[in-house]
Amino acid sequence: MRIGILISGRGSNLKALIDTCAEPGFRGRIALVISNRPGAPGLAIAEAAGIPTLVIDHKEYASRTTFDAELDQALRKAGVELICNAGFMRILTDEFVEKWRDRQINIHPSILPAFKGMHVHQRALDAGVKITGCTVHFVRAEMDEGPIVAQAAVPVLPGDTAETLAARVLEAEHKLYPLALRLIVDGRARVAGEQVVIDYDGE
Ligand code: GRF
Repeated sequence: MRIGILISGRGSNLKALIDTCAEPGFRGRIALVISNRPGAPGLAIAEAAGIPTLVIDHKEYASRTTFDAELDQALRKAGVELICNAGFMRILTDEFVEKWRDRQINIHPSILPAFKGMHVHQRALDAGVKITGCTVHFVRAEMDEGPIVAQAAVPVLPGDTAETLAARVLEAEHKLYPLALRLIVDGRARVAGEQVVIDYDGE
């Protein structure tokens, strides 16, 4: 399966996915990494791994529609079959999302449907939750919504700040995203209705 990864920044989840795809026998290959920000550090991570990269700078496009059309064209040209959003900070048009329905996944640093949107770790602390975590889900038009592939729980510890909590959740993200990708690439996770059914194959 040819995978396209969308990033905007640091690229630590990208790195986790690159490492997974490099494992022997993994049936997915990263065909292209696209960043909407020219200086995204994740671009260098992809380049170091010999993966083709592309910058599609949203600032150069008059509208979301024209930006998304360029994105769509680049992904199709690279033969991408599954898009992984990894810290991609652009809202996509409904049209783009529909075109890639059930073929685009995202990672979000909370246990959805709790804490959609931004500043999730501070909001989790403010809410006093004792467990948070991360979610990999198929992308739908509403932000941080869509059929859930996998989730991991992470404890909130006394004295946590948004930074310490983010770091703990990020470690979990680096395990969860590869796991979720593997399920999809192996054909063991499929969308049925608006839920993901996992085939555990007797395990
Ligand atoms: C991660 O916390 C991810 O869940 C969120 O943005 C962050 C991206 O980090 N959507 P990185 O670029 O993968 O290091």
